[in-house]
Amino acid sequence: MKRIAILASGSGSNAEKIMEHFQNSTKAQIALVASNKADAFVLQRAEKFKVPTFTFTKKEMDAGVLLEKLQKEQINWVVLAGFLLKIPEELIRAFPDHMVNIHPALLPKYGGKGMYGHHVHEAVKAAGEKETGITIHLVNENYDEGKIIFQASTPLSPEDSPEDIAQKVHALEHRHFPEVIESLL
Ligand code: GRF
Repeated sequence: MKRIAILASGSGSNAEKIMEHFQNSTKAQIALVASNKADAFVLQRAEKFKVPTFTFTKKEMDAGVLLEKLQKEQINWVVLAGFLLKIPEELIRAFPDHMVNIHPALLPKYGGKGMYGHHVHEAVKAAGEKETGITIHLVNENYDEGKIIFQASTPLSPEDSPEDIAQKVHALEHRHFPEVIESLL
């Protein structure tokens, strides 16, 4: 049984889909949901699934507190699902090819510093893109540049607002992220 930790900073709708997917799995269990925001809604979602939670500050993460917790919990895979802090290199190195992130666009487009959440969808809108999508990739020291595991796209119409784009992207994320994680285990 593989032990997965989810790191998330916000609402956690992806985290919820992943917890749902692995609820009765014999392959893996979501052993921890960890957040840098003590009031993140993802923590309530975790409680609903009886998944243990852990909160930490950026300072604590940078000092190794999160890595220590993941090791203590014998975590095999780390899933970033809307996690907004830059991961310390030491933590990335502790999970070589075992840390996966979802990015709400078709990398290498709309990746890198400052490209998260609504910023991504606003940039996609401003550029008049005819499609956008999701990218699921391994995490290495250069953030959005790790090996791409999976991409899926969705067409956009000129009338789509950034909120509409976000909604289309979320639908793709919810449909694919849990299964792609399972395929990696
Ligand atoms: C997702 O769009 C994900 O791609 C991005 O942050 C968002 C998190 O959404 N990295 P949620 O918290 O899972 O609803």
